[in-house]
Amino acid sequence: MKPKVFVTRPLPAAALEGLASRCMVAVHPEDDALQPAQLGDACRDAEGLLVVGVRVNEEVLKDAPRLRVVANCGVGYDNIDVAACTARGIAVTNTPGVLTDTTADLAFALLMAVARRVVEGDRLVREGRWQRWQWGMLWGADIHHQTLGLYGFGRIGQAVARRGRGFEMRVIYHDVQRAGAEIERELAAQFVDQETLLRESNFLSLHVPLTPETHHVIGARELTLMKPSAFLINTARGKVVDEEALVAALKSHRIAGAGLDVFEHEPHLHPELAKLDNVVLLPHLGSATAETRLKMALLAVENLLAALDGHRPPNIVNPEVYG
Ligand code: 8YV
Repeated sequence: MKPKVFVTRPLPAAALEGLASRCMVAVHPEDDALQPAQLGDACRDAEGLLVVGVRVNEEVLKDAPRLRVVANCGVGYDNIDVAACTARGIAVTNTPGVLTDTTADLAFALLMAVARRVVEGDRLVREGRWQRWQWGMLWGADIHHQTLGLYGFGRIGQAVARRGRGFEMRVIYHDVQRAGAEIERELAAQFVDQETLLRESNFLSLHVPLTPETHHVIGARELTLMKPSAFLINTARGKVVDEEALVAALKSHRIAGAGLDVFEHEPHLHPELAKLDNVVLLPHLGSATAETRLKMALLAVENLLAALDGHRPPNIVNPEVYG
């Protein structure tokens, strides 16, 4: 008898076929987020759950007594109550690695867009407001040879550093864990304390996971330490930044601008953000390319099948469940 698996969104056929060869698969047919009560209901007999952008909490787990694995299709797993899964012996997995470069590309795209006023320029041309070329029009900020500060220096932070090196930027970083000497040398990246990072960065790009420790790690105090000419780039998680404080800093030009792919109350926007010219706003597109989304789906399937087979999955988040 094949184990039952529930998938929370329609995924690429290649990934679903791999799953269907070994499991009885049910897929939520809409590309929208199921609410916990609906998800719990859908998982009543499921042994495996493949999650894409959906919350998995106690409300879901209490209705899913047979569940053995929750495979998240994403590297960040703050949408999953891992402690509750561990308490029930449920393995949790994620999809690191395959989206690193794609997310770093987007962080750099935001950095460049906000520094060189790409979106403002596009609007000006598109709306027919460009009457003549002007010397003083839409001056932006240089990127090359500036200081790139990375808050969080894991896979994605390091990939952004690599891009910064291509622009001959000075790279500094802060992380709870200092990188190895070899990585620091390869990327010419200098480890600094949090305050130095805030004070010296021309571009501060966030690459920390959302945890209780990183919640609002950038707030009013931190924004005050930044240069008035600095830009904040966030492709990590919205709740890492105190959005109210960020809006105040942007409105008062306490910092020069921000490029945001993630928001504190996604998909709801702070009412003031869309009114500001010095921000570029994207709808959580970090990993959104066809190639990468396919790799993520395939990796999530690989993790899920390994766990259902009783093996330790390649990307286990809570290894304690394996004793
Ligand atoms: C996902 C992401 O698309 O991997 C992550 O952490 O933020 C995105 O790549 C999103 O989490 C939906 O699962």
